[in-house]
Amino acid sequence: MKQITKDVFSVGVIDWNMRNFHGNTFITKNGVTYNSYLINDKEPALIDVVHKGFEDEFIKNILEIISPEKIKHVILNHLEPDHSGAIEYMAKVLKNAKFYGTAKLKEGLLKYYDLNIEINVVKTGDKINLGNNTLTFVEVPMVHWPDSMITYCPEKKILFSNDAFGQHIATNKTFTDEIGQDILWQEVAKYYANILWPLGTMIEKSVNNLLTMNLPIDFVAPSHGLVWRNNINKVIEKYLSWTKNEVKNKVVVVYETMWGSTQIMAREIVRALTNNNIEVKMFDIAKTDFAEVAYEMLEAKAFVIGSSTHDNEMLAYIAGYMHFLKGMKPKNRIAVSFGSFGWAGGAVKEIATNLSSFGIEVIDQISAKFKPNKEEIEKCYQAGEKLSKALLEHCY
Ligand code: FEO
Repeated sequence: MKQITKDVFSVGVIDWNMRNFHGNTFITKNGVTYNSYLINDKEPALIDVVHKGFEDEFIKNILEIISPEKIKHVILNHLEPDHSGAIEYMAKVLKNAKFYGTAKLKEGLLKYYDLNIEINVVKTGDKINLGNNTLTFVEVPMVHWPDSMITYCPEKKILFSNDAFGQHIATNKTFTDEIGQDILWQEVAKYYANILWPLGTMIEKSVNNLLTMNLPIDFVAPSHGLVWRNNINKVIEKYLSWTKNEVKNKVVVVYETMWGSTQIMAREIVRALTNNNIEVKMFDIAKTDFAEVAYEMLEAKAFVIGSSTHDNEMLAYIAGYMHFLKGMKPKNRIAVSFGSFGWAGGAVKEIATNLSSFGIEVIDQISAKFKPNKEEIEKCYQAGEKLSKALLEHCY
């Protein structure tokens, strides 16, 4: 049994083996949790249900505290199936409960599932009384879907934040301060980069809206990972920084190579960056999951993207990554494109055109025929020098 504070329990489930969260878009090497919280008051309330397939474990967790038939209120903060998937089963078990969610949640839930329950539509400021505690709702559209809301319990000073401030870490610990802080903050950033990055404008609005409410908060209980009882201000500040696309002097080099020439070019660009003491991460995208690269890009000012040319175009894995990158809507970045070709080029310009269309300023494009010769290697080094100079001059 995991207790958050008096009468409040974490009753969700741990998906130790989840590696491809929402259809391979997010490789979750540390697993996932689907959190649900039970407030054991005169009228017990459940915040969110869990992913389909975990119903038995979920019921066992609830039974450690009360019989599910005693639950009077079920708050559905978010429609996405990782939080609602068990609802068809749970609706039959939670025989005496009223269900609550936003209008958008109601619309989606009744489309997703075969349900014979009434969804009580709530909006920002609506409250329900549980006896000793109350729950109040705040709509947070696009954090992470249009239906999203968060739930606040003033008596316990708990913000049930759903997707916001989550982390994909499978663990049987309860609080964020109970695990290694390096892995915690890495997974907080990776979660933001892969789930929330494109939605920054809406997230900034919602977070600022919350801050203006001046809610006393002792706990932030997200729907994934661990509960915050420390560093609450720090994680909120991190989110606000990411929503503004604040960056540092860091370069992420991502490439795909056919016969090794593009890789030689990548290494030479990295050599120049290293000699200028610029932080660099380099990935062969054919050997790396996209989620890892997105995490590294979250605070990087510059992207260096390369591909060999094949049939006048960039290679397939890097093309897939460019598609992924476009979706993340990165702002406030500069870039270099590079790559080798045989008898005709195409990839370098194609990458540069793509990056420009995303609003990224491309400051250099470097090509090499077959295998880069001395002059072409020097051009790569100079591209790294130019990038270093651009970064160091502005000192991001
Ligand atoms: Fe964890 Fe948007 O679902």
